[in-house]
Amino acid sequence: MNILVVGGAGYIGSHMVKQLGLMGCHVTTLDNLSNGHRDAVLFGSLIVGDLSDRVLLGQVLEAGRFDAVMHFASFIQVGESVEQPAKYYDNNVMNTLHLLDAMRMAKINRFIFSSTAATFGSPLYTPIDEVHPQNPINPYGRSKWMVEQILEDFDRAYGLKSVCLRYFNAAGADPEGQLGERHSPETHLIPLVLQTASGKRPHISVFGRDYDTPDGTCIRDYVHVSDLCDAHWLGLQALLQGANSEQYNLGNGNGFSVQEVIDTAMRITGTTIPVRNAPRRHGDPDRLVANATRAKKSLGWLPKYSDLDAIVLHSWRWERRQ
Ligand code: UFG
Repeated sequence: MNILVVGGAGYIGSHMVKQLGLMGCHVTTLDNLSNGHRDAVLFGSLIVGDLSDRVLLGQVLEAGRFDAVMHFASFIQVGESVEQPAKYYDNNVMNTLHLLDAMRMAKINRFIFSSTAATFGSPLYTPIDEVHPQNPINPYGRSKWMVEQILEDFDRAYGLKSVCLRYFNAAGADPEGQLGERHSPETHLIPLVLQTASGKRPHISVFGRDYDTPDGTCIRDYVHVSDLCDAHWLGLQALLQGANSEQYNLGNGNGFSVQEVIDTAMRITGTTIPVRNAPRRHGDPDRLVANATRAKKSLGWLPKYSDLDAIVLHSWRWERRQ
């Protein structure tokens, strides 16, 4: 099988490239290396280029004879998206449109898209299933939701079949220790907690202790990056077998509070992690937990690392190697 992985040098994309390579696929990564790392592409070939380069896109897609495209390349910081919405709509929406258009020209009609729990906004109920209303509350979430809607239109008009995977809190690292999270700047809780455990940061700030949760800190559903890649693989198989376009929520259905994550990290690392209380971060809902029944039933998705200990342990191994 011949797969184009856009954003394959980034955090989740690089894990996907490895998994596809191990499954015997022919993998091509297209990445502008703005957030990705050349040395994270462990299989196949890397084309360094930007999705705004429509000539390049046309050439890559016409020449590649790809069976499917997986698209991981996007900006992901909620706070930044509020301050610089143009950057988010330009890259996450416009550049995705360029990619879809190049696929249409090259007659490639299978697409797997990295979407997000942020398309739901503040939840009306949890766990959140796929029929929960989508009402994103920031430009990041809106940019992903716009692409979901574009994909519906492209299916109707051009027969482009897609799988939208709405990640909850992507976390963890390659169980074999070759890959992990390397964002700059890092904003995600687990890597920040572990960088504090290893002495790179003086403390971890807890953003708000007055939420409507048992310990007052926000609850999130952390899902292992390898399990997310499994879902991509299963989504690909479904499309190859002629499945219709579909959206899936991906999480473990278990919520952990910020304090529970810190406590788990202290236990796993055997360190004391200094904590400071900080004000709430704008736009953080109390609780985001997935109902992933559809992915389990329709795709046969079975997360392998559903407990927080494994997620933190793999991230810790990666952190120690940095
Ligand atoms: N947090 C802290 N201190 C930190 C960093 C985070 O207390 O230094 C808290 C946050 O306030 C939040 C939780 O830890 O309650 C998790 O925060 P992350 O930044 O790790 O993740 P988010 O829940 O903000 O973001 C994730 C995805 C986004 C997606 C969002 C949906 O990374 O892509 O869920 O709301 F948009």
